[in-house]
Amino acid sequence: MTNVDRTVAASAAAVFGDRLELAERFVGLLTEHGVERGLIGPREVERLWDRHILNSAVVGEQMPNEARVVDVGSGAGLPGIPLAIARPDLQIVLVEPMARRVAWLDEVVETLGLTSVIVLRGRAEESSIKDDVAGADVVTARAVAPLAKLCGWCLPLLRVGGRLVALKGTSAVEEIERDRQAVARLGGADPRVETCGADVLDVPTTVVVVDRVATTRRRTRKDQGAYRA
Ligand SMILES: C[S@@+](CC[C@H](N)C(=O)[O-])C[C@H]1O[C@@H](n2cnc3c(N)ncnc32)[C@H](O)[C@@H]1O
Repeated sequence: MTNVDRTVAASAAAVFGDRLELAERFVGLLTEHGVERGLIGPREVERLWDRHILNSAVVGEQMPNEARVVDVGSGAGLPGIPLAIARPDLQIVLVEPMARRVAWLDEVVETLGLTSVIVLRGRAEESSIKDDVAGADVVTARAVAPLAKLCGWCLPLLRVGGRLVALKGTSAVEEIERDRQAVARLGGADPRVETCGADVLDVPTTVVVVDRVATTRRRTRKDQGAYRA
């Protein structure tokens, strides 16, 4: 085993504890089927643990116990599946529009026996999805859309006081600066960069966190006193 492997093994044991075997089985499924099913690129197989699985699982640090979580654009199951393995107390809904990815997610959930996870087919902004998952405590998204667009799709799924946790990497600060006004217009407050997994990962995960506040209501003529008696 190389030093890199040893570091990853120690991190995986710390992050997944007695559910490490489930994480290993998920990595096994992705290694066997991920490329052929168009879920991950061929170069990703070598770095599944450090670039995909561990960095997804640690975002649970941003989530209260027993939170209701929606993972928008789950794709191969990231971050939703590693999160569900590391944090079985969370209730997680994976939202994904593409039929073949939904089929994959259903298979993974069934094979690993992840009873805290459900999979919904659709786009986050569709009314049927909103009807099913609105009022969530946390929405996660990884590699789905730029911050302003993501807030437009995801903030309506949150309860007031809930939070969007977007896995963003090196673009995080720049996206906040660029989209700050749009985020506020969409009912998002205090966009900020946080890191997760600093205690267990060599490269912690960078996320943008946005709190959901009440959406600003457009002022009507009545609000402005036009109809005052
Ligand atoms: C680049 S992939 C990332 C997948 C996964 N989150 C990951 O990190 O590997 C983006 C995913 O977002 C999904 N997606 C795109 N627009 C969406 C929307 N409006 N609502 C929900 N999912 C969406 C796509 O189908 C795709 O699976």
